[in-house]
Amino acid sequence: MHKLEILFLGQKDVKNFLDMQQVIPKIKKVFENHGRASVILSDPVKIVLPLEPSINGHFVGMPAFIDLKEKSVAGVKWIGTFPDNPKQHGLPTSSAILIINDTRTGVPVCFMEASLLTAYRTGASTAVGASFLAKKDSHTIGIIGASFQGRYQLLALAEIFNLNECKVFDINKNAAETYRSEMLEQLSCTEIKICRSCEEVVSGSDIVVTATTSPFPFFEGQWCEKGMLLVSIAAKSELKPEVLDRADKIVVDTISGCMHQGALVPYFKSGLLKEKDIYSELGQIVVGEKKGRENEKEIILYVPIGVGTEDIAVAMKVYELAKAQGKGTMLSLF
Ligand SMILES: NC(=O)c1ccc[n+]([C@@H]2O[C@H](COP(=O)([O-])OP(=O)(O)OC[C@H]3O[C@@H](n4cnc5c(N)ncnc54)[C@H](O)[C@@H]3O)[C@@H](O)[C@H]2O)c1
Repeated sequence: MHKLEILFLGQKDVKNFLDMQQVIPKIKKVFENHGRASVILSDPVKIVLPLEPSINGHFVGMPAFIDLKEKSVAGVKWIGTFPDNPKQHGLPTSSAILIINDTRTGVPVCFMEASLLTAYRTGASTAVGASFLAKKDSHTIGIIGASFQGRYQLLALAEIFNLNECKVFDINKNAAETYRSEMLEQLSCTEIKICRSCEEVVSGSDIVVTATTSPFPFFEGQWCEKGMLLVSIAAKSELKPEVLDRADKIVVDTISGCMHQGALVPYFKSGLLKEKDIYSELGQIVVGEKKGRENEKEIILYVPIGVGTEDIAVAMKVYELAKAQGKGTMLSLF
């Protein structure tokens, strides 16, 4: 019998091969493939595994199979989200690992740390969405939740728009201050203003991203301003129901994914929101089947809750580059 080895890539290895300028077009391509229905997604798209109510956390399994003419890729990401981790254990909220399999034999070929990769691809999904859904001259970004994800949301948007200012609010003032100093180091041309409330963030922002671990909806419908793009990436709903009424268009990454997780779940469950109320999946807009923003006044809500194909597409590139450059550690399976 052949011996079987798997390439292990820790976060330091993965980081070497993540570049937002390259991840954004890759994620755009993923949505193009979704729009052309040239991607096969596993069914169900997401396995959301809640735990007993006393535990503030959940797991999500995201298997995906991308079947393109030139090559096929299969794999799975397993991500745990435990919002009390930073305070209680000094650990990040989310931790993720990802496995890539050889689609000819089924054998696993790569095993990698995937929380940073998740942040890059989630930022890139927002950037691709915003390139179709935000005003072209958007220059003020509002970030609610000075989170790990919130950092990559801003970095990705800075690749697409000429940003003048980022306004940030977090219920934890220290988190907002650390965010400000870290982001200033990376985006020297953008002013980062710490706000005292969500309303202050939203007022005058062209694009607002909510990236919190809030256990309940807090974003008021009346805060939505004409022309605004609101992006909600959180695992739980941050949006009060009036936001849905205020939005002229609701766009999602995938309808099936957004029925399982994120901002829209409670409203699908209560029947307030029906599938027909979703204007479009992003892929349909990327391929031109549906229009994105049509005027300067529309209020658009974009909910990218994450798709396994995004993870697998970015991970495959990381794996190929690492293999070519001899990075990572080979582990023997048998
Ligand atoms: N859509 C996706 O594909 C995707 C991918 C990964 C993570 N996420 C989600 O992104 C969110 C952020 O994750 P993270 O790992 O960056 O978390 P994190 O723990 O690093 O940060 C969360 C921040 O939110 C702040 N916060 C909580 N409630 C708030 C409120 N009401 N107003 C303002 N700030 C508030 C906290 O103080 C904290 O600073 C989570 O909900 C996570 O599940 C989404």
